[in-house]
Order: sequence, then structure tokens, then C-alpha cells
Amino acid sequence: MALSTKKLAFAVGGVMALTVFSAQAALVFRNTITGEVLDLNEAIEEGRDTPAVKEFLETGTNPYIERSECLPIGHELFLSACSGCHGHLGEGKVGPGLNDAYWTYPKNATNVGLFETMFGGAQGQMGPMYGALTLDEMLLVQAWIRHIYTGSIEDAEWLSDEQKKTFTPYKPPASEDADVHAAALAAAEKSCKRNGSS
Ligand code: HEC
Repeated sequence: MALSTKKLAFAVGGVMALTVFSAQAALVFRNTITGEVLDLNEAIEEGRDTPAVKEFLETGTNPYIERSECLPIGHELFLSACSGCHGHLGEGKVGPGLNDAYWTYPKNATNVGLFETMFGGAQGQMGPMYGALTLDEMLLVQAWIRHIYTGSIEDAEWLSDEQKKTFTPYKPPASEDADVHAAALAAAEKSCKRNGSS
């Protein structure tokens, strides 16, 4: 016998609910330690469908790396979520340095790999970040990490040849003054169009 309409509607609805979000991810993302496929449905609801997130999940390209107006937001997020263990400029502390070309996990030299480590964590104190940062915020932090790099441009595998030619490291506001930082952040929040129409 054919399925009742009700059952069919339920089945179709279920499949749709499952694919609504994951369908956007053309790439497969894997846990840095276990290699298990990461469940992007665990991501915080907000910030899942910005143009940058859509592009990244589709292609592995993080458009914020090219958008210097957004970097102060990534900087701020890094200060609250990462610098306690990795140092203010990613110079390393409890956690390893993030500002050179040496990676414990070589895949962190790719933007997909670095995203996977942020989302799913690594060992010990490096816990998964999917509950602390939205997907959009992870991309902003990643863009900032790519701009605190102090090594030779030649070794920066994560930059395309075009990006290597134009790479300029992030310059934090000249003053340590909290008001100056707040102003830089406010300006970035305004000019960095995270929800499109940039
Ligand atoms: C509570 C401390 C702590 C916090 C907070 C933390 N980390 Fe880590 N992180 C570590 C430790 C310890 C390791 C080394 C783990 C390992 O080798 O598996 C690590 C490893 C890493 C690595 C791998 C580096 C490599 O050489 O391959 C990356 C990338 C990383 N962290 C990024 C981040 C980012 C980005 C944030 C903020 C969103 C963050 N971490 C927050 C402690 C922390």
C-alpha cells in the first residue's frame, strides 16, 4: 500500500529539516584529532547564513581575509575567546603560537583546516568553539589570525599568489587607550557589512 499522505508529509518534512542547513556545506569538515565529520548543526543559530559563511562552506574561501575593515572585530573576538591561552598577538602562551608558519597540525595552514580546529577543538585545553563563537565569528577570528602572521610570506601557504602580493599585517590602533579601541571597533561594526550589501 502507498504511504498515507500524513506519513509522506512527515517523511518529506523530516528530510527537508535535515537538509536545510547542511545542504549549504558543499565541503566536508572533519575533527582535527578524530577525523570524524563535524556536525555543523551544532553551530550557534545566529551567524549561520551570512554571505561569508555561505561562501566559506561552499568553497573553503574566507572572504573576510580580503576585508580589512572587518579585522578589528576579529581582533576583539580573539581577545575575548583565544588570547588568554594563545597570547594577545597569537605569540603563544599555554597554547602554541598562531602567528608563524609552524603548525602542530599541518592542516591549520589551510583555512578549512584552521576552521575545523576552531569548530571542533584539538587536544587538552583546546576545546571546541562551536558553543562560544558563531560560524561568522569564527571566520572573522580566522581572518585576523591570518593577519598577525610574522613569518616569511613565501611560507604562508594559506595565502593565494595574489594575496601574497598585497598582504599587509593588521595594525592595531596606535593607542592602548580603551576608548580608542572601542572607537575602532565601533567603526568596524559599521563598515563591515556582515549581512550582505558590502
Ligand atoms: C583554555 C585555553 C585555550 C583557549 C581559550 C584556546 N586555545 Fe587554542 N589551543 C590551546 C592548547 C593547549 C592547544 C594545543 C592543543 C593540541 O596541540 O592539540 C591549542 C591549539 C590550537 C590550535 C592548533 C595550533 C597548531 O599549531 O596546529 C589552533 C589553531 C588554536 N588552538 C586556535 C584557537 C583559537 C582560534 C581560539 C579562540 C577561538 C583558541 N585556540 C582558544 C589552548 C586554548
